[in-house]
Order: sequence, then C-alpha cells, then structure tokens
Amino acid sequence: MERDYRAHVLIFPYPTQGHINPTLQFAKRLVSKGLKATLATTIFIHKSTQIEPGCVNGRARCDELGFAEAGSTEAYLERLEAVGSRTLAELIDRLAQSGHPVNCLVPLDVTTVTLPVMPALEIPDIPSFCSDIGSYPAYLQLVLDQFKNVESADWVPFNSFDKLEEQMVKWMEERCKAIAIGPTLPSMFLDKRVEGDENYSINLYKPDKVGYMKWLDTKAVGSVVYISFGSMAELTEKQMEELALGIKGCNKYYLWVVRETEKKKLPAKSIEDMEDKGIIVTWSKQIEVLAHEAVGCFVTHSGWNSTMEALCLGVPMVCVPQWTDQPTNAKFVADVWGVGVRARVDDKGCVRREEIGFCIREVMEGEKSEEIKRNAKKWKAFAKEALEEGGSSDKNIEKFVASFVKP
Ligand code: UDX
Repeated sequence: MERDYRAHVLIFPYPTQGHINPTLQFAKRLVSKGLKATLATTIFIHKSTQIEPGCVNGRARCDELGFAEAGSTEAYLERLEAVGSRTLAELIDRLAQSGHPVNCLVPLDVTTVTLPVMPALEIPDIPSFCSDIGSYPAYLQLVLDQFKNVESADWVPFNSFDKLEEQMVKWMEERCKAIAIGPTLPSMFLDKRVEGDENYSINLYKPDKVGYMKWLDTKAVGSVVYISFGSMAELTEKQMEELALGIKGCNKYYLWVVRETEKKKLPAKSIEDMEDKGIIVTWSKQIEVLAHEAVGCFVTHSGWNSTMEALCLGVPMVCVPQWTDQPTNAKFVADVWGVGVRARVDDKGCVRREEIGFCIREVMEGEKSEEIKRNAKKWKAFAKEALEEGGSSDKNIEKFVASFVKP
C-alpha cells in the first residue's frame, strides 16, 4: 500500500482531562508536518468527551483502549494499570494489521506495566522492541508476525519447561497448542538419553584455539568469572572499558569472550595489566565452559539461550541486558528465579566498573550469594528432571510424536 506519510506515531496520553488536549494538539502538529498520528484514549474518555467530528481528522484519529468506565478515580487508574498495556499492545497489532504499523510510541508516564502471568515490569524490564519501538520498527513487526497464526498451528513448541514458567505455560496452553519442550541443551549435559550427542553444536563462529578449557582445569571450583555477550550485541567503547576495569577491580580469574569485530574496542593498557588473571577469546564452546566446575559466575547479556544454558548448568548470573527480550529475561533471573542479579546502568545506559565489581562479588561471595547458589542448584535439578523419562518436557515430546500416525 502506498503511504503518503513519513511515519505513524501512536500517542497514549495519561487518560485524564489535563493530558488529552495538549497531546491532541501535539498530534495535530505532527500531522501538519507530514506524519500520521493516532491518539489512544480509554473508552471512558472516548464516551464522556464526545469527540467532535472535526476535532480529529485526516491523518489524526482517535482510538479507544479496552477500559470500562470505573466508579472512582482509584478504580479507573487501577484498571488502567491492569489492562492498559495489553490493550495498547492489541491496538498496536491492529494498526499493523490494517497496514498502518506504528513507528513511534509516545506513552503516558507509566512506571509499572502489569501483564497477565508476568511479574510487574518497570520500563527498563520491558523488551526494547516494545519500550523503544521507534528504534526497531522492523523488529517489532517481526515479533508481532511470529504470533500471527499461532492459534491455527498444530503445535507451538517452545524452549522452556513447565516448572520454570508455570503460569505462562498454562496461559499459552489456553490460547494455542503450546508445548514446552526444553531446555534444548545437548542431552550430554542434562539427561544423557540421546545417543551420539557428542558432536552437538553448529557454530557461526569457530571456537578460539587458545587452550581455555585446560586453563579452567587449573582453577579452583567456582573461582572463575565467565563473560560473554552472545553473537550479536555490540558494546560501546566506554562500556567495554568499564567492563574491563570492573573485572580487573574485583581481582578474580576470568574468561572473556570478545568477538573478533569487537576486539578493537578493548582498552589496550588496562587489558595488558590484567593479563595474568585471565584469558580473552574470540568465541568459546560456551556450554562446555558453563558446565566446567571452575566457573562460578556468568556475566551475560541475558540472551534467552545463554540464560537457559546457565540456569540448566547451575551457574549464577550477573545480567547486563542490552536490547530485545534481554531486559525481561534479566528480570526473571534476578526477581523470579533468584539465580543472579541485574547490574544497574548510569544515566547514559552504561554499567560502571564499580557496579560490575559489586555484582560479581555479590553473586560469588556477597550477602545474596548463598541463596543464589541454592536456587541455581534447584533449577539445574528441575531442568534435568523435565527431560528425564516421564518429565514434563519428555511427556510433551511424546505427545508430539504420538500425533503422527504410522503410514
Ligand atoms: C539473540 C538475541 O540477541 C537474544 O536476545 C535472544 O534471546 C536470542 O537471539 P544472542 O544475542 O546470540 O541471541 O544470545 P543467546 O540467545 O544467548 O545465544 C547465544 C548462543 O551462542 C548461546 O547458545 C551460546 O552458548 C553461544 N555462544 C556464545 C557460544 O557458543 N560461544 C560464545 O563464545 C558465545
């Protein structure tokens, strides 16, 4: 469809009188400069303000969210918090389906988002394709598209296990044929029931030839910090420097994955000074590293795979999420499963050296470390149990297999 506007802005003002008109005027101004704007209000506002036909027109339109009128201000705001984010997400989806995907969201000043079966999420816990949709419109579209036909799929297998996300699994089962079939780690690290699993991985990058596994063999149990940001994250030079100084400052042994393309950002002098305590590699066999008893802490970007690997192998985490689902994964690691901490960022979004050092010590020997280690052990056992004979994921895989009739 040919579009005659540069971008579509969805504006969601705080749904009280004082916020509606200023945002309406802002929306109109954007439209006059070539954008399309949608002003989202609540059903209550929509009905009670009786929006004049000429008031919102052309490329500006008003859309209502699914809030019923509520008796008191408190009840109204409570309802807003309970269903607001869901109905807003639905509206974004609807607009995308109608050929007008949203490029930018100007939201009300929310601090907490409540969604069904999720812990309360602060703005920094929300996936970046939702909280910062202006930066990643294509990514948001990609994610929304993945769920388009979910109800008509015969099966929707996903990489988790029932105990890990009990409520979420139930919620999904009510909506589609979702089955948790994870964790999808190689069997040799878990239940050891799949034969010939030794040659387990397909790698985008070649593991570094440096003898880091032998080096790990020389280190005491739980004494090494493993640092990796997965296959995509690109850190700023400043973040790289703070990370290096944080690792150096806590004086622990470390194994740090810095992809070839990221290496130029390493602060040469600081790295020289810390060479005696660790190794930097361009890619590792991460699962083997995490399974090594010398590793006592994983500083991670909280990608889902890394999170599952560490959780299933019982390694406590320091989460330094970057984008997409990573902030939400970090929320679960720190506040739901209790297997790590999330590092705080400064006002420029950078985790400073002191914070890195503090978090590593907190996880390895600090006040919370005993509880974190206990939880890590517990989840490791549950993960293994899910795939063992009769375990929840094993049963789900059986169900899937049984759905095929032998010719
Ligand atoms: C992407 C997104 O960034 C992430 O948010 C989403 O959850 C999944 O897709 P990526 O950033 O690569 O993934 O992170 P992650 O999901 O953690 O996957 C990385 C994989 O690479 C893991 O399986 C890990 O074991 C492997 N890896 C990483 C290595 O084998 N060696 C390494 O040195 C680093």
